[in-house]
Amino acid sequence: MFPLTQVVRYYKPPRIVFGVNAVDNLGKYAREMGLAGRTAIITDAGVAKAGIPARVVQALQKSGIEAAIFDQGRPEPDDAACDQAAEFVRREGADFVIGLGGGSAIDIAKVAAQLAVVGGRTEDHLRKTSFPRKGIPLIAVPTTAGTGAECTMFAIITLPREGIKGFFFTPFIIPDLAVVDPTLTLTMPPGVTASSGADALAHAIETMMARKENPLTDALAFKAVELIAEALLVAVYDGSNLEARVKMSYASMMAGLAFNDTGIIEGHALAHALGSFYHIPHGVACAIALPFAMEYNMGHCLEKLARMAAVLGQHTSGMSTRQAALAAIHAVRQLLADAGLPTDWSRWGRKEDIPALAEMMVKSPWITAFYGYAKRPMSEEAAAELLRRSYEGRIGEGPY
Ligand SMILES: [Fe+2]
Repeated sequence: MFPLTQVVRYYKPPRIVFGVNAVDNLGKYAREMGLAGRTAIITDAGVAKAGIPARVVQALQKSGIEAAIFDQGRPEPDDAACDQAAEFVRREGADFVIGLGGGSAIDIAKVAAQLAVVGGRTEDHLRKTSFPRKGIPLIAVPTTAGTGAECTMFAIITLPREGIKGFFFTPFIIPDLAVVDPTLTLTMPPGVTASSGADALAHAIETMMARKENPLTDALAFKAVELIAEALLVAVYDGSNLEARVKMSYASMMAGLAFNDTGIIEGHALAHALGSFYHIPHGVACAIALPFAMEYNMGHCLEKLARMAAVLGQHTSGMSTRQAALAAIHAVRQLLADAGLPTDWSRWGRKEDIPALAEMMVKSPWITAFYGYAKRPMSEEAAAELLRRSYEGRIGEGPY
């Protein structure tokens, strides 16, 4: 049950355009915002190879907007990638920035759009998780369905010297416009479709278990779970199915809108610890962590998990609330496994690493920040148990 006396802030992009082929009118939408002149498109080589930036450039040209393309974005970006992109934005004299790609390209664009105005290095600002003021306008155009980065005030940036993923967390980096066009996700390969879909599912479910759960974000998150249950496997195994791509793009965006206000919790704490330690891609780490995070939280949200079981297509009549809640956890794990995702992290690491990982999970401020959004506190013992169960793939034993 949501806390009745809390204050929740709802921060969204002021404009969102969603639809099939919407990107072909990007110039028009930019003009409507008063944007003109020259833009820098921040993307990566994979997106460029798929021909997507050329489509965007054409859409901008129709409205008389010039574009320069930076295609050096990379997955799980570090501070150097952001500095490089910011330098490009300054050098090109861009009036605004477009982040075009998966969460990584959009996150780089979020940082570059600020640095273009405030100056300095990414690392200096990252230590404060914010910027002194807002930068130039930012448009986000996702080419994956998962991170919800087009709607959020987060950007995940790795600090390579510390071997950990840091993050920006500030309303300054919420895109001024999000253009979500599911046709841009049609070329996503099955593995990326699966892992990014798992990320969206984790955002939705962790939001519902977070301390600031509330009716508005619940509505978004429940619908996101329903859409993912309907469409994830179709999108993975028949990537050209536009209906499945539309559903996944909606789910990703809605989950992003939801978690922006509540934050995300232990699943992402575990995923970031595993990602920092073993460089497991974010969505894959989320897929591993999510069922265990659900079990960790089931004590305070049995009824909600029981309702989620029905949304996930489980037949729960005749089950106790606890049985139905566990059915939801098993259904999530089965859905992700059917999408080809791993159910434990044993292939990446060793059991002997668990004490070091558990220490990271309770000592690193970049990880403990997630517990601020959670209802349950985290201890080193609980973190070690979470790690042990997720290493062994042991689920269904109840809260711990
Ligand atoms: Fe995520």
